[in-house]
Amino acid sequence: MLAARGGRQALRRWQALRCCASLPRARLRVREALGAPEPAGEVKVQGWVRSVRSQKGVLFLHINDGSSLENLQVVADPSLENRDLTFGSAVEVQGKLVKSPHRMQNVELKAETIRVVGPCDTLSFPLKRKGRHPLDYVRQFPHLRCRNTTLGSLLRIRSEATAAIHSFFQDNGYVHIHTPIITSNDCEGAGELFQIETSNEARESAEKTHFFNVPAFLTVSGQLHLEVMAGAFTQVFTFGPTFRAENSQSRRHLAEFYMVEAELSFTESLQDVMQVMEDLFKTATNTVLSKCPHDVELFHKYIAPAQKTKDRLEKMLKNKFVTISYGEAMEILKQASPSFTFKPEWGCDLQTEHEKYLVKHCGEVPVFVFNYPYDLKPFYMRDNEDGAQHTVAAVDLLVPGIGELCGGSLREERLPFLESRLQRLGLKDAYQWYLDLRKFGSVPHGGFGMGFERYLQCILGVDNIKDVIPFPRFSHSCLL
Ligand code: 4AD
Ligand code: MG
Repeated sequence: MLAARGGRQALRRWQALRCCASLPRARLRVREALGAPEPAGEVKVQGWVRSVRSQKGVLFLHINDGSSLENLQVVADPSLENRDLTFGSAVEVQGKLVKSPHRMQNVELKAETIRVVGPCDTLSFPLKRKGRHPLDYVRQFPHLRCRNTTLGSLLRIRSEATAAIHSFFQDNGYVHIHTPIITSNDCEGAGELFQIETSNEARESAEKTHFFNVPAFLTVSGQLHLEVMAGAFTQVFTFGPTFRAENSQSRRHLAEFYMVEAELSFTESLQDVMQVMEDLFKTATNTVLSKCPHDVELFHKYIAPAQKTKDRLEKMLKNKFVTISYGEAMEILKQASPSFTFKPEWGCDLQTEHEKYLVKHCGEVPVFVFNYPYDLKPFYMRDNEDGAQHTVAAVDLLVPGIGELCGGSLREERLPFLESRLQRLGLKDAYQWYLDLRKFGSVPHGGFGMGFERYLQCILGVDNIKDVIPFPRFSHSCLL
């Protein structure tokens, strides 16, 4: 029971607090109180009221402080009730932690005093006590939705997943790099850039010149900066905000999202890059499942469609990911019985409908699609020099329910190839520094980027990407 609540840490802190004789009342987080090994002692708990109920001469409160999905039950004499003690109010409760007579919880807090720190006007408060609010309802209140049970779980999972991803790379010898948010390049060359301008006042003083002397943008990918660093540290990663001016209202696109990116030097095989993607997915997911099982369970039980996500996730974690080439993918799509809106043809990009079909065709497990047509992909991808059906060493990872989760490639490390491609695109001057990397100790290398929000959607079964990020930004919407 204690371990299930992640209680080992709570136990250590509890013991430390108990040893501290000078502390008359230990201030405990709800998670720590719930995981307390022995019901005893004077404590103080602060949080927000999730329910107030009077029953048979006893006042029951449930309070939550964001540290766990489970609320702490407070039992009090009805004389402690007051007008301001309502759903949503902020309270501080002092009392004794005692063994609970109810089987549902280990301990409860027998209140001696209850102080309402901040009352809540329940009539105008958009969250209500009863029932589960739909995600699209709470989305209207980005300043309040973190107090909703589902969003609370999501944000705790997001925090654990972030830590799990950092640990995965650190444990495997990667160096974390803070790649810049402001940049002068368009890594993907897709023109989905947000340009940075100074405000009107600042612009006047800068006499209408660019603040940075050159046009500057919000980054669409930290890859090129990571390639710089891979030339010194061998294995590097970055995990930060990424921006795309995609005028899309889809359920898997945001204007600001988080991307995990890794770059590996001395790798000649796309297989090595795919292995890191698969290991990252499986390791991070297993960590999240063990760190916050109850929060994940809430999604699998109430948010994702009946059991499907849970079973699907187990299957993903158990089985080896499938690998097919772009050419094979096209053959599968051409022979498919459903007619697609976009006709599959060699040279065409995979559309969401194609991605979903391929994943289903391969048994609802993640699928790597590799070796894409040369003309479809950005300038940095390595030329496979394979004749008529000219391809590059690119790989996308497609996952059930989402489609593309990761995009990666081997990078063109050969100076003449890169130089001529950049020359043809008219980018040679702008990318002189990138060419330099191929002149001074160039090595075969590759890497990938994984959309963090799509990852969360995939493991939790959340349909809309706007529900897995604290403050979603998308075209026509920038609330707060
Ligand atoms: O496939 P993408 O465009 O790859 C790159 O940017 C590479 N430079 C990464 C690298 O090799 N270091 O983007 C990577 C992933 C996609 O597979 C997708 O999961 C996510 O980023 N992504 C988005 N997620 C949310 N909203 C958007 N608008 C996204 N665009 C891409
Ligand atoms: Mg991509």
